[in-house]
Amino acid sequence: MITFTQGFPFSPLPLGHYRSMMTNSPYERHIDFETLIAPETPFESWLISMPEFQAGYNWGLPRFGHPEGKVGIHVKEVLGNIDKLSIDSISRQQLRIVALSHDTFKYKENKRLNGHEYKHHGLLAREFMERYYDDKVVLDIVELHDEAFYIWRAANLENKCEAAATRLKNLLDRIGPHLGLYFQFFKSDTQTGDKMQAPIHWFEQRLRDIGTKI
Ligand SMILES: [Fe+2]
Ligand SMILES: [Fe+2]
Repeated sequence: MITFTQGFPFSPLPLGHYRSMMTNSPYERHIDFETLIAPETPFESWLISMPEFQAGYNWGLPRFGHPEGKVGIHVKEVLGNIDKLSIDSISRQQLRIVALSHDTFKYKENKRLNGHEYKHHGLLAREFMERYYDDKVVLDIVELHDEAFYIWRAANLENKCEAAATRLKNLLDRIGPHLGLYFQFFKSDTQTGDKMQAPIHWFEQRLRDIGTKI
C-alpha cells in the first residue's frame, strides 16, 4: 500500500551536489563559512563571524535529511532557494536573516535532558538573535521554523490529528499576517538535502482547506 507520505518524491539532490561546497570531506573539522555563505551586509558578516555561528555552522555529520552534514552547508542551500523566490527586497533580507540563524543552535540543543529544560534550536536561536535584532516577524519565524513539519508529523505519522489541529491554530495565531513569509521559508528550508517534500504539499493544502491565503 502506498501511504500519503510515500506519494511525494524525495529531494533529487545526490550527495555529489554538495561536493563543490566541501573543501575536503564532510568530516573536515572546521570550515570558515564566510566565503561559502557570501554575506551581503555588515550585519550578516558579523553574525557569521560570531563564535556561536562558527561552532553552529560546523556542527553535524551526514544523516537522513541532511546528507551535506554541516549546518553551514545547509544554510548555503537554503539561501540559494531564497534567491529563486519572487519576493521584494525587504522580504528577501528578512528570509536571509532567518536562514542564517534558524539552525545555528542545533549544537546546543539538549535532547538528553538530564534534568534540564528542553529548548528547541529555533527557540535558542530566537533568544540569541533578539539581543541584536528587533524584527519580531523574523524572530517569530526563526523560533517556529520547524513547527509546520512537527504539525505534519503529528497528523500523518503519529495519528495525533487533534493535537495537530491545535498546534496549527497556535502557529497561525503566532504568525498572523506573515504566514506567506513563513511558508516561503518553510519551503526554502524543506527543499534541501534529501528531505521529504510531503510536508510542504500537506501544509499548503491544510491552509487552503481552512481558507487561509498564503
Ligand atoms: Fe531546524
Ligand atoms: Fe534548516
